[in-house]
This record gives sequence, C-alpha cells and structure tokens, in this order.
Amino acid sequence: MSSFLHQRSTHNPLSSPFPLSPRSSSLPARSFSLFSPTALLVILSLLIVLGVFLPWAGMPEGLFSAVKPSVAKWHDYTLPQAASFVARNGTVIVCAVSQPYLPFLSNWLISISRQKHQDKVLVIAEDYATLYKVNELWPGHAVLVPPAPDSQSAHKFGSQGFFNFTSRRPRHLLQILELGYNVMYNDVDMVWLADPFPYLEGNHDVYFTDDMAQVKPLKHSHELPPPGKKGRTYICSCMIFLHPTNGAKLVMKKWIEEMQAQPWSKTQKSNDQPAFNWALNKTAGQVDLYLLPQAAFPTGGLYFKNKTWVQDTKGMHVIIHNNYITGFEKKIKRFREYGLWLVDDHADESPLGRLGD
Ligand SMILES: *[C@@H]1O[C@H](CO)[C@@H](O)[C@H](O)[C@H]1NC(C)=O
Ligand SMILES: *[C@@H]1O[C@H](CO)[C@@H](O)[C@H](O)[C@H]1NC(C)=O
Ligand SMILES: *[C@@H]1O[C@H](CO)[C@@H](O)[C@H](O)[C@H]1NC(C)=O
Ligand SMILES: *[C@@H]1O[C@H](CO)[C@@H](O)[C@H](O)[C@H]1NC(C)=O
Repeated sequence: MSSFLHQRSTHNPLSSPFPLSPRSSSLPARSFSLFSPTALLVILSLLIVLGVFLPWAGMPEGLFSAVKPSVAKWHDYTLPQAASFVARNGTVIVCAVSQPYLPFLSNWLISISRQKHQDKVLVIAEDYATLYKVNELWPGHAVLVPPAPDSQSAHKFGSQGFFNFTSRRPRHLLQILELGYNVMYNDVDMVWLADPFPYLEGNHDVYFTDDMAQVKPLKHSHELPPPGKKGRTYICSCMIFLHPTNGAKLVMKKWIEEMQAQPWSKTQKSNDQPAFNWALNKTAGQVDLYLLPQAAFPTGGLYFKNKTWVQDTKGMHVIIHNNYITGFEKKIKRFREYGLWLVDDHADESPLGRLGD
C-alpha cells in the first residue's frame, strides 16, 4: 500500500522534471488514450461490425429488403385495404403469384398497361418475398392473404404444392366478392392484346372462357357448353370475371367444396380446373353463366397450334393464354416466337420497371 502510494507520487506528472513541456508530455498522453479501454472497445466494435456486415453488403436484396421498415409495413396490409386502394369503378383485376412467376407478372402487366387498366391490378402474393418486392416497386399493389403456402413446390405443375397453391384461388375471389367488388382473375401467363371489358356485357354472375381447342363458329352460344369426354366441361380457370352477386359467390363456395371433395392425389395430379368445372356443372341451374367468345379469348391449344384459325380470326383476339405447354422456359420461348414476350424490350412500360435490377 505504502509502496504503491510512493510509486504513484514519483510518477506523478506534476513531479516530472518538465511538467510544462508541451512536446514531452503531449506525445505519451496521446498514445496513452489510444490504448485506453474505451478506445479499444470502440475499435473492437468497429471490427466486429465490419466483419459481420461487410460480407452481406454485396448480397442481393432478399435478406435486407425483408427487414427494411419501409417494406416490412406491408406484412400487415390486408385484403380489404388493398382492394379499396386499387379498385376503380368498383372493379379489381387480380392474379396470384409466387416469386418464380415475377417475369410473367411483369409481362402481363405491360400488356394491361397498354389498355390502361393497370391501376386496378392487385397482385395476390403467395410468398413474402413477392409481397415485399412488388410493393417496393409498386406500392400498395400486392397483398398476402395469410397463411403463406409453402412456396418451394408452388410452381411445379401437377404437384401437390401446385394444387395447394391454386386451391387458394376461389377463397381469394370469394373474399373480394364479399367485399362488394367486381373481380377479374387472370393467370399471369396471359397477354392482353385489347381491352376485355367491353366483352363483359350484360349482368351475368360469372364470365369464363373455354379451354377446348376445337374450333367453334364465330357466333357460338354463350351458354355453358355440354360436358366433354370426362363427363365434364373444359372451362378454363385461368380467366374469370365475377359480379359480387349471390350467384357468383355460390359458384366460388361450390368450387371450394369440390376442391375439398377431390383433393390432390398421386394418380390424379389434378389442379383447380376440374373442381371449377364441377362447380359450374352443379350450380348451372341457379346461376347466370356466360361463356366468352372463342375468337376473342382462345385457349393456347388453339391460338398457338392452328395458324389457319389465327389468320381467319385476325384482329379479333383479346387475351392470349400461353397454356397447353408446361415449363417456364418453354412458355417464354413460345411467347418470344410470337412477339408476346414484352419484358425483353418494353420493361419500361411495366409498373414494376425492370424488376429493380
Ligand atoms: C363503370 O362500371 C359500369 C358498370 O360496371 C360501366 O357501365 C361503366 O362503363 C364503367 N365506367 C368506367 C369509367 O369504366
Ligand atoms: C398441401 O396441403 C395439404 C393439406 O393442407 C398438406 O397436408 C400438405 O402438406 C401440403 N403440401 C404441400 C407440398 O404444400
Ligand atoms: C353436369 O354433368 C353431368 C354428368 O356429366 C351431365 O349429365 C349434366 O348434363 C351436366 N349438367 C350441365 C348443366 O352441364
Ligand atoms: C384450324 O382452323 C380452321 C378454321 O380456321 C379449321 O377449319 C380447322 O379444322 C382447324 N384445324 C384443326 C386441326 O383443328
């Protein structure tokens, strides 16, 4: 104790031989503070911060966009809020997409923008990455109806994941009808060549298109067609327009029931379309159904396969559906061949721009 006190007193700067010399005292004083516990702590924390975050800084969005507060607010954005934000004249246009479909979404949106109907588009995101991405680029136009399905398997056509994903469709549509809106549903592997709204004439409950490739007369009936080989019709679940009537709601409820009655199985590998057709079949007597004209809304099985028909009906086509083919690459290739892959040269016309890249 006493020796400590003694040493201290001998090293006391005040007792130094040159206590007021600025040069001799300033240098040691500075190096002293650099190695002080506080300074070391600051340096250490800086190193940790740089070490932990620098490697992530070069990574693409994903991780960071999900936690940005400006983006995270969309987590709690509800369907009633979103529908009221986008609806124009009581109408919303919806699609349901997961992340792998983003390029198709953009392509579809370009074609809708050309018809000036993009403002009423609501993207139902089937995963959080899609919700955040779309709303970051186009605020308010995407919503997620929880719980989000397992997105890993959502895009494999014919898989159980794909079935689960599409089985959410009638629920989304029913919810929008319950809110009182007219709603048009589209698959995003579609392209608008003209405005479909003038074709939605009258006050029918449900409007739809035939997925049969067989050529019909130009002025065919607007009734539900007779059942085909499997005892049911082949109406496409890809393009549906509904008025918020009891009839339309009944069809959606029946569709949900039919999906539950005939769930996915390894042998059936079904999607939501047969259930939609059974729902139409079983409600036909109570609901006002309207089949849209084939020349305006042809199935891909006709448009991409019968050049004579395409020539014969030139100028009449309204929405083209890239179906009767599976796989993203094949669909893109076919769209390119027909000049319908608009994202290559017209991304600036998409409300999503170049998808942020
Ligand atoms: C609004 O909707 C009504 C009925 O659905 C339609 O007749 C009318 O043309 C629409 N107006 C506009 C500006 O889209
Ligand atoms: C699909 O849904 C069923 C029933 O809800 C569930 O048991 C199954 O795990 C889901 N499968 C996939 C791949 O999402
Ligand atoms: C419904 O399906 C059954 C069985 O194929 C058929 O006999 C009946 O005609 C269909 N009803 C309508 C309205 O299409
Ligand atoms: C192609 O379309 C024409 C009418 O434009 C029709 O006569 C012909 O039968 C169609 N071909 C096939 C294979 O369906």
